[in-house]
Amino acid sequence: MATNVKSSRRSQIMAWSVASLFILGFIVSQVGAWTGPIQGAWFVGTQKPRRGFLWMVAIGFVLGLIFGWRMIPLTGAVQALDYLGWALVAAVVGALPFTFHRLVSPRLGGFLSTLPLPLAAVAIPWLALALHFGASKTVGLVTFLTFWFAATVAWLWNRESHATYLVFGAGFIVVGGFGLLRHFGGVVLPADLPIGVAFSPSCLGAALLLSVSALLKPGKHPTWANRPQAVALLQSPFTGNPLHLVTERGREALVSTSGERFPVRDGIPTFLKPQDLTGDNGKYNRLYETIAGFYDDTQRVACALKGLDRDEYFLAYMRKLEAKPGDRVLETSVGTGLSFKYLPRGVRLSGLDLSSEMLANCQRNLRLWQLDADLYLGNAESLPFADASFDVVFHVGGISFFHDQGKAIREMIRVARPGSLLLISDETEEYAKKTYEKIPITSSYYKNRKTEVTIPVDLVPKEMEEIQVEMIKGGLFYALTFRKPGNRLLTQAQ
Ligand SMILES: C[S@@+](CC[C@H](N)C(=O)[O-])C[C@H]1O[C@@H](n2cnc3c(N)ncnc32)[C@H](O)[C@@H]1O
Repeated sequence: MATNVKSSRRSQIMAWSVASLFILGFIVSQVGAWTGPIQGAWFVGTQKPRRGFLWMVAIGFVLGLIFGWRMIPLTGAVQALDYLGWALVAAVVGALPFTFHRLVSPRLGGFLSTLPLPLAAVAIPWLALALHFGASKTVGLVTFLTFWFAATVAWLWNRESHATYLVFGAGFIVVGGFGLLRHFGGVVLPADLPIGVAFSPSCLGAALLLSVSALLKPGKHPTWANRPQAVALLQSPFTGNPLHLVTERGREALVSTSGERFPVRDGIPTFLKPQDLTGDNGKYNRLYETIAGFYDDTQRVACALKGLDRDEYFLAYMRKLEAKPGDRVLETSVGTGLSFKYLPRGVRLSGLDLSSEMLANCQRNLRLWQLDADLYLGNAESLPFADASFDVVFHVGGISFFHDQGKAIREMIRVARPGSLLLISDETEEYAKKTYEKIPITSSYYKNRKTEVTIPVDLVPKEMEEIQVEMIKGGLFYALTFRKPGNRLLTQAQ
């Protein structure tokens, strides 16, 4: 049996038009002046602050050298070094507003979170100029508007709002219209529309105010003391001993009677041991820790460029699940939680993953979608849950590269209620060859693999019932389902 996913020519054309504008921005500086800040606001948002800052400095430095060297008369080694030094300073000053935005914006609510970038984009260069030259000229309105537009587009994109294309398009019509007026109508405006000497210092003041209010906001991670039902299901993945919650010096941890201790970090109980990150698990964990920030966006862009309906794509396998309101649902290798959106409201969500960065992005998604889930950092090959804890257990997109697939499947079965239907869905070898082996970041992880991807139907124990495999999207994905024997209703009543 096979299921195909629809594709739409209209959204494909729209996606390619936008992508072309972003590519054009690297060649035509007038376009780049608007697309660059959008890319910067988006990219820094996907990274940990320090890594994002270093990347932005490196990118700014290289672009500065490429676009700026013609303007500088390089007459000797001293001038060249001098120029390199200034290019580096400019790259650091250019990266700082994005880093400020990365630190402050996530702690502010709603549309207010678009303001740190434009305020800092005015205030930081102004401050740098003032510190170096004493009195400095005002950095004005065009900078503010350009960066506000960028932060707004990135904010709408991250919220998966339909208005993203609208605002993006409207911004470029305004900019393009003005460019045409300037070219053909001779209309000229002062480069940065200074609107008074008080503008830049006011932006600095407002940026400081925003950072103080962000600092004063309470932490966003709920306590596990409010999740007694989830704690009741937990057991040590190493000894099987039951766990209970303790709070020591304001920090929560799960402890067993035999003295094992599993800390709760940033709202997520941590069950990893160093040996969980060896072999293939360690290898692919490094990949997911690196790409976690843009994992969702890569999927979104890839679907858009192919004109694929993303919801259809997820529902092709998610609709097989028998989840209903009130059920306890577990996804092993939950990643950024993308599948959770396709479950009925009212289910109790749980997700486990090996990558802390993927889980951090999952927490961000859940806040955005206003969903709640119990998240765990752990290995799908040794789950920290008691037997028969969940009404629905499923896995999407990771098992092909697990260290021990058979163990992961047996663990899924152990924690599922008797009578429940389990789902395993992943890419096929054809997909791995067509995409992972070709994409620059992933190719080094997937080329020269020891084994090919196979559908793990032989690893499903023979006593499972209704074992079925369905190919999805022209054979690029599969959905393997089976039922755990036993009477589910009887077990629930016990
Ligand atoms: C391709 S992503 C899929 C994420 C999500 N299920 C989805 O459909 O978008 C694969 C995920 O498997 C996780 N993973 C890999 N090995 C694992 C293991 N042994 N235990 C738990 N998670 C693992 C990775 O960290 C990553 O988040």
